[in-house]
Amino acid sequence: AYTAEPFVPEGAGVEVLREAAAGCRGCPLHREATQTVFGAGNAHGRVLLVGEQPGDQEDRQGAPFVGPAGKVLTRALHEAGIEPGDTYVTNAVKHFKFEVVPERGKRRIHKSPSLRETAACKPWLEAELRLVDPEVIVALGATAGKALLGSSFRVTKQRGALLPLPGHEERGECLVATIHPSAVLRADDREALYAGLVSDLRMAARALR
Ligand code: URA
Ligand code: SF4
Repeated sequence: AYTAEPFVPEGAGVEVLREAAAGCRGCPLHREATQTVFGAGNAHGRVLLVGEQPGDQEDRQGAPFVGPAGKVLTRALHEAGIEPGDTYVTNAVKHFKFEVVPERGKRRIHKSPSLRETAACKPWLEAELRLVDPEVIVALGATAGKALLGSSFRVTKQRGALLPLPGHEERGECLVATIHPSAVLRADDREALYAGLVSDLRMAARALR
């Protein structure tokens, strides 16, 4: 099976992890992408945010949520009262998965990662969870929710509630799931989706001790 496991150094700090992740060959996604996009932000933040995978901009720049979805996320966090300096932001999958559709020019079109790829990349997410040791984890969308809660996770059913994180119960970490910020960009009813995102993030803010 594909797995990042042999590439993840034990007990490493964030910079050593990031360097190791740059050389990850745990699944085929590293072949086409420009670079590994590891998590960024406050490695001791109280809020750990998990997206799906880097997008086109993130793949080029090497940092998570620096494109249009990141703008939505930053605004929503501010509105929910979560300080950017209190957050560490990462993705369930660390390489950009895309296809090039010739009829659409050279544009690289985002493709959702498979469960196999998400599972392969999970050791990096686990290492980030151990390192950051957050008070609350926010799963942004279905891929992050499934990576953290299992494949039966459904955003529509489980969003906006404080959920226990399997395997982390005794540390008291909890999880709030919400929609992916890029859903706000695609929707017809942007205002309603955005308001829902902010309301779910407020639940995460309330979980802070
Ligand atoms: N979407 C994500 O899920 N993650 C990013 O980093 C950017 C867009
Ligand atoms: Fe490794 Fe994850 Fe990239 Fe696959 S997507 S090569 S597991 S870092």
